[in-house]
Amino acid sequence: MAGSDDSEDTKAQPAPHEPRVLGRREVLKGLSTVPALGLFGYAWQRQRQYQQSRAEEAVGTANASADGLQEINIALLGAGAQGQVLTDAMLRIPGLRFRAVCDVWTEYNQRRVVNSLKRFKHEVNGYEDYREMLDKEKALDAVIIATPDFWHAQHAIDCLEAGKHVYCEKEMSNTLEGARSMVAAARKSGHLLQIGHQRRSNPRYLHCYEKLLHEAKLLGRIVTVHGQWNRAVTPDLGAPDRYVIPLARLKQYGFKDMHQFRNWRWYKGKGGGPIVDLGSHQIDIYSWFLGVNPSHVMASGGNLYYDRATHEWYDTVMAVYDYDTPLGPAKAYYQTQTTNGSQGYFENFMGDQGTLLISESEVNYAGLLYRDPNAPAWDEWVQKGYVNAPKEQEAKAKSDSGAIADVRESVAPDQHTVPVTLRDPYHQPHLQNFFDAVRGKAKLNCPAEVAYETAVAVLKVNEAIEAKSRVSFRPEEFKV
Ligand SMILES: NC(=O)c1ccc[n+]([C@@H]2O[C@H](COP(=O)([O-])OP(=O)(O)OC[C@H]3O[C@@H](n4cnc5c(N)ncnc54)[C@H](O)[C@@H]3O)[C@@H](O)[C@H]2O)c1
Repeated sequence: MAGSDDSEDTKAQPAPHEPRVLGRREVLKGLSTVPALGLFGYAWQRQRQYQQSRAEEAVGTANASADGLQEINIALLGAGAQGQVLTDAMLRIPGLRFRAVCDVWTEYNQRRVVNSLKRFKHEVNGYEDYREMLDKEKALDAVIIATPDFWHAQHAIDCLEAGKHVYCEKEMSNTLEGARSMVAAARKSGHLLQIGHQRRSNPRYLHCYEKLLHEAKLLGRIVTVHGQWNRAVTPDLGAPDRYVIPLARLKQYGFKDMHQFRNWRWYKGKGGGPIVDLGSHQIDIYSWFLGVNPSHVMASGGNLYYDRATHEWYDTVMAVYDYDTPLGPAKAYYQTQTTNGSQGYFENFMGDQGTLLISESEVNYAGLLYRDPNAPAWDEWVQKGYVNAPKEQEAKAKSDSGAIADVRESVAPDQHTVPVTLRDPYHQPHLQNFFDAVRGKAKLNCPAEVAYETAVAVLKVNEAIEAKSRVSFRPEEFKV
């Protein structure tokens, strides 16, 4: 096993395409790659140390189990925060060979990821221009795209046309026109395009969708949904003076200055603001679990807190969707705000027989289920292992403590939990699904057509805020 002793460091080097096993010393070298960068660097370094230690645990398993797998040659396009998160997850997946990293921030992000991959024995070339990378790296099978949203369409289309399979981060594009052209390019090329709505491959979400909602029908008819992503006040991202990108290069890649380059999410024409950045993950789940796209949306949003000169998109959004589900009408509320992180992020589905409170977060609301007191017993599902047995009812606990409840109050429902925990990094199953599909062993969990439907539902919120009225969706709007 990698990491079990240092003797593996002295093993003969395998042939270029052979999977290699890393020793503990090699892995630990990766921990010292991040320069000291003050507060910005401190948080980043702490996060990196955590990720490195997780990667250290897993990388041996990945390499050891790669035998017999068709090796997939990959490149990373966009080596920023998310590019790094995806890289760390991919280092745990067997049978991958990194060949190239492309990033316009050559002196910082590109160098960091290239260096860390080299420490994991991936001989990668670094590029500033993705077209040069596509020209030179003929052996690539797939490209993983984690550039800012306004680049996704061009990057994905050019990679597909160059014959590569593509995993592209959400939001698919900052415009519907861009997203549509991605769907068309994937179809025309015959290559795979997976979009990074990673909850679609999360085993807890899959279990809830397949077993609890569809097979056991534990919620009955879902009539209301609410969800949120609340985030505490966050300072703007900066960059150390010595790594500032020359203005000519920033402009060449569509950024007016370093602030916009680092904080592109907040700018119109670059990202879509928090509702798109954060909301797209969860509104995707609303439509998936309800089994239908929305028919209308009304929304209110504004920039209530941050400087509008540097935060063009709304920092606070509250939206209400209407759905005509196969079982009847439903309403779904979603809020995102960026001035208080209270209760984090989750989706809460409320049916006439039960409630599912679910989150991607493994530490908050990972999966809680409440059976309505009038609903049929869930014993069968507990016995089958679909749900865990209930905790003691809250009402009983309260009465034991001497509290007096009003007689008109509903009895607190039983609280069950979902017995599925993801023990890997959040993005790993979705990446694994993509690589399984590249090998012809799986279907994509979030192909371009599905992500397009979510893009339509999400981007319409900004339109509804501007229009100050309830806007409707035509069913054909969701199709390309
Ligand atoms: N699935 C998720 O949970 C999740 C989480 C965070 C971010 N994301 C998505 O990942 C993407 C990247 O987000 P991020 O937080 O890493 O942003 P970031 O700004 O940290 O990183 C973007 C990187 O792309 C590089 N870049 C910009 N333009 C480029 C170009 N034309 N060619 C090559 N490189 C270029 C930048 O230098 C930077 O290193 C976004 O689409 C974002 O929505 C997804």
